[in-house]
Amino acid sequence: MNTSVTATPYGTLPPASPVASRKPVSLPRPHEMRQRGEKITMLTAYDATFAAVADAAGVDCILVGDSVGMVCQGLSSTVGVSLDDMCYHTECVANGVRRVQGTTWIVGDLPFGSYQESREQALRSASALMQAGAHMVKLEGGGWTTETVRFLVERGIPVCAHLGLTPQTVHALGGYRVQGRDDAAAQTLRREALALQDAGASMLVLEMVPAALSAELTEALPRCHTIGIGAGNGTAGQVLVMHDMLGVNLGKNPKFVRNFMQDAGNVQDAMRTYVAAVKDGSFPDNTLHAW
Ligand code: KIV
Repeated sequence: MNTSVTATPYGTLPPASPVASRKPVSLPRPHEMRQRGEKITMLTAYDATFAAVADAAGVDCILVGDSVGMVCQGLSSTVGVSLDDMCYHTECVANGVRRVQGTTWIVGDLPFGSYQESREQALRSASALMQAGAHMVKLEGGGWTTETVRFLVERGIPVCAHLGLTPQTVHALGGYRVQGRDDAAAQTLRREALALQDAGASMLVLEMVPAALSAELTEALPRCHTIGIGAGNGTAGQVLVMHDMLGVNLGKNPKFVRNFMQDAGNVQDAMRTYVAAVKDGSFPDNTLHAW
């Protein structure tokens, strides 16, 4: 953060900031970045201060993930997170980004039970997240979600899809394990990813998908930009849960995480290093962080 601003009580955000030096990220930007071979960086954040710091560190997209349930609420999965929770955290993040005249693209996660019932329910939930400050919504799964994605996109809501390990269905999947390993599962992933692109999804999180398959999907999806987490370095961008990459984790970090705090003096430097490592292709390293 800019250290020359007046000190403020109760927090770290300045009362007002100079006009942003970067152009705000908007929907065409990931496409432009991809065209020039620049990787897209995404990190989760759940509150105003960390969102502002991520923005200042040059993170392209902030995901207000329903991982908030696990890292902030102490839940054992994301299933217990409500739409009200997500709206609250999305608003906190949007306030933080706005306070520093930030430029980051904000993705709000639709939580479990907020979009499964009908396309109309999904539209109501997505509208609530957009009104709370999201620029795009994310939803998990393929197949039945395709028509929901189309319905939202036709109504002006940018959508990020999410395939591979989908944490909201962890109980059905039988645990947090790599997806798409056998031929039949890989074929399903290919089919679902192409259908989501056709329905208008402009981003696609690929979580715990073998690196070779993720790279192949990325090639096959010129209009839908893949954002990998545990999916190797062949995707159009990368995302990590902020607490994981800052080493704020009492458990065992998943294989795909790198602790960027280890060699950094502060959180903003850790995030800057993450951005630089994704952009220069050194993170993730397929020999260490992928399958
Ligand atoms: O909720 C979340 O943080 C996510 C990421 C793991 C991609 O969905």
